[in-house]
Amino acid sequence: MSYHNPYTPPRKSATFDDYTLAEIRRAAATGIYDIRGAGTKRKVPHFDDLLFLGASISRYPLEGYREKCDTSIVLGTRYAKKPIQLKIPITIAGMSFGALSGPAKEALGRGATISGTSTTTGDGGMTDEERGHSQTLVYQYLPSRYGMNPKDLRRADAIEVVVGQGAKPGGGGMLLGQKISDRVANMRNLPKGIDQRSACRHPDWTGPDDLEIKILEIREITDWEKPIYVKVGGARPYYDTALAVKAGADVVVLDGMQGGTAATQDVFIEHVGMPILACIRPAVQALQDLGMHRKVQLVVSGGIRSGADVAKALALGADAVAIGTAALVAIGDNDPRWEEEYQKLGTTAGAYDDWHEGKDPAGITTQDPELAARLDPVAAGRRLANYLKVMTLEAQTIARACGKNHLHNLEPEDLCALTMEAAAMAQIPLAGTNWYPGKGSF
Ligand SMILES: Cc1cc2nc3c(=O)[nH]c(=O)nc-3n(C[C@H](O)[C@H](O)[C@H](O)COP(=O)(O)O)c2cc1C
Repeated sequence: MSYHNPYTPPRKSATFDDYTLAEIRRAAATGIYDIRGAGTKRKVPHFDDLLFLGASISRYPLEGYREKCDTSIVLGTRYAKKPIQLKIPITIAGMSFGALSGPAKEALGRGATISGTSTTTGDGGMTDEERGHSQTLVYQYLPSRYGMNPKDLRRADAIEVVVGQGAKPGGGGMLLGQKISDRVANMRNLPKGIDQRSACRHPDWTGPDDLEIKILEIREITDWEKPIYVKVGGARPYYDTALAVKAGADVVVLDGMQGGTAATQDVFIEHVGMPILACIRPAVQALQDLGMHRKVQLVVSGGIRSGADVAKALALGADAVAIGTAALVAIGDNDPRWEEEYQKLGTTAGAYDDWHEGKDPAGITTQDPELAARLDPVAAGRRLANYLKVMTLEAQTIARACGKNHLHNLEPEDLCALTMEAAAMAQIPLAGTNWYPGKGSF
């Protein structure tokens, strides 16, 4: 005879929670894994787990409205004849035309240009809209070589050799058939409407020595003028940074696991790579060990949302940051004004991540001409510029409060950590202590 305990309510499992149960049922019903866009959804240690200390008796703050706090940055000072000069240390990350609509790429270019910063192409090549509207455009050189064109290498202001990205270190891109329009197919030399999986590694190199040769080739093609960045996903940041420097990079771009993607397996997004918080100090350490900190610039990304995040990344030793998801939100992604249409797609504003399906009501992650026409690139570019301005003002406010007259003067000593995890990962003492858990071993 079974016994029902009338005093204790039914108890659900923390391991098998409702979401996990639903995922098991979905897998059982369909036999296919989940593909989605955006970045990590579960909580991982992040910049929120750090705080600035601010000035007091031992430090002297700067006056917000009267004393200057510089934000400019030069990227590519190592070898390039024409380094990149930016007014702010916040750049727009590489996002492909194909993943994004033409108007979305144009809006990113417009917003970045108003703000005096750079934007970046992506898998699939350079469009005239983005070249035309971006004062400073970084051209990605990817494993797939889709849309790769030596003329575009020369039309760019810098080249970013992509080894990997934070959402999927070790994996390649995906662009599903729904988004392979005539134009996208043409640019990539692919058949229209057929799912496309980009290569996960470069076809003509297997390691750092080949990377060195490739970088030299690109320097020759571009007459040693353009800075060459190397982008890696946050996996082994100490060694990856050291090897990128050895191979001749002018700039290292380091993308943590929270980094957004246009389309990848959910299991990849959530379970591969390290949070950006854990990546920055080892990368800076590698640069310092090689005598290259501030000579080879470090750009970091993955879940950057506010001026506080920017200031924390810089205080940990980065020279600049890149934003992807936040820039898309600023131009109109997941805007609640499209709620009715999100509901029809079985989701809600703020949770919409089926970017691979190409049905984005906001007209951003789509190739459908009618949906894409909903995004006004001029107004969207202005929104991005406003957002970048706010982030910069926020970072300056913090820097001044720490007594710094340039964002680059922020330093680890300005920070304390709220949790042991953050203290260990960022090598910052736990608040109220002088304890650095785990310091010294990368
Ligand atoms: C829609 C979308 C498309 C992307 N496409 C590319 C790409 O083509 N090449 C690449 O290196 N990274 C790509 N990324 C990753 C971004 O360059 C960047 O690493 C990431 O978005 C940074 O994290 P964040 O989104 O949290 O700011 C893409 C990201 C998004 C959101």
